[in-house]
Amino acid sequence: MSYQEVLTRRNGALFFEDIPLARLAADFGTPLYVYSRRALLERADRMLTAFGDRPHIVAYAIKANMNLAVVRTFVERGCGVDVTSRGELERALAVGADPSKIVYSGVGKRADEIDRALSAEIRMFNVESLEELSIIDQRAKALGKIAPISFRLNPDVDPQTHPYISTGLKTSKFGIPIEYASKAYSQAKSLANIRVVGVDCHIGSQITSLSPFKDALLRIKSAVLQLREEGHAIELIDIGGGLGVEYSGNDNPPSAEEYVDTVLEVVGGFDATLVCEPGRSLTAGAGIFVTRALYRKITEDRRYLVVDGGMNDLLRPALYDAEMRIEVDPHRDGTNENWYVVGPVCESSDCFAKDRSLPPIEPADLLAIRDAGAYGFAMSSFYNGRPLCAEVMVQGDRAEVVRRRQTIEETWGGESIPDWGE
Ligand code: LLP
Repeated sequence: MSYQEVLTRRNGALFFEDIPLARLAADFGTPLYVYSRRALLERADRMLTAFGDRPHIVAYAIKANMNLAVVRTFVERGCGVDVTSRGELERALAVGADPSKIVYSGVGKRADEIDRALSAEIRMFNVESLEELSIIDQRAKALGKIAPISFRLNPDVDPQTHPYISTGLKTSKFGIPIEYASKAYSQAKSLANIRVVGVDCHIGSQITSLSPFKDALLRIKSAVLQLREEGHAIELIDIGGGLGVEYSGNDNPPSAEEYVDTVLEVVGGFDATLVCEPGRSLTAGAGIFVTRALYRKITEDRRYLVVDGGMNDLLRPALYDAEMRIEVDPHRDGTNENWYVVGPVCESSDCFAKDRSLPPIEPADLLAIRDAGAYGFAMSSFYNGRPLCAEVMVQGDRAEVVRRRQTIEETWGGESIPDWGE
């Protein structure tokens, strides 16, 4: 089953849902992120439905796109949220997420963050070290609470993805080695303010085949069997996120249904609630990044197309060499030409596409970078004094600003110049 396209061409003009891209760019300016509410709902529904009547929590990994309107869309549909900071937790709570569907991941939870999560009564902390366990126990004691925990087990599986987003290998900073699970859980059992409720694992992101998931799940399955034998109550099995999306013709990721089927095949037999933490697969394809062509600059060696969006707005190509598809609007007749699509930021890595074949393009034309709904705006910055761009959500022919463009003054908001008395 494939998702309905959010970006289509009608008589040569690009439309996002039922709105011409040119109108979105004119009304809201560029650079701009645009999200399809319909596509977000479709993705959430498919992941939720795939679990059938098995007890489950689809805890949206809010880091992929933390816009309140996006998170709210998922929460309304019944999703929980996977958070990694106090900031993410507050966002989840602000849009009315059910704390019993919130899980807290991450290697570096601070005491104040733990306190807030305890007082909000989240479902579980995914603990990544024994020192963290001990701090959670102390904080729970101080607040008169019992902290529900799982350990993030590192199964030492290669997710076959970019090294920056691989987390399930032995050498990674994440989780505890799966062979220490017994020791860690017995340590947890000995602590008065800790209650063991589950196991957790997350091996990486943008995973485009089922085999790494299967390998990890098989190891998790043996761990659950052993831990249960040792008397630990494993009520929740959290399999993390990581399902990839089709950024280019070369990626061929499993569907949500295939992914969930694999999960059910390996760990579906346990009497436990299955938790997953999808981020990218719920949001990437529901969003685009829109930027306007400024100049063509043709040198002896290269053909540069300079656009008004930069690596500060969309970092993925610069950071991971990510290849993201680009559409040009309007359509002009003629032959394709190759371009280095670059932004205005003063770094050579500020490049969205290298030597990419694109249809004829002229200054002021629009470029839509596909699959930008995940790790797009969320990773943006105001580097080079460039205000954070606007985010718009579309449903049918209705477009609403869900984050207005930052003003230039706001980029220095909070800064001050001390009086040095000189
Ligand atoms: N759970 C945990 C504990 C995670 O660390 C992550 C992602 C997820 C769930 C969600 O994974 P997803 O379903 O989105 O693959 N900025 C990078 C991706 C970083 C992923 C970090 N952790 C990128 O743009 O490719």
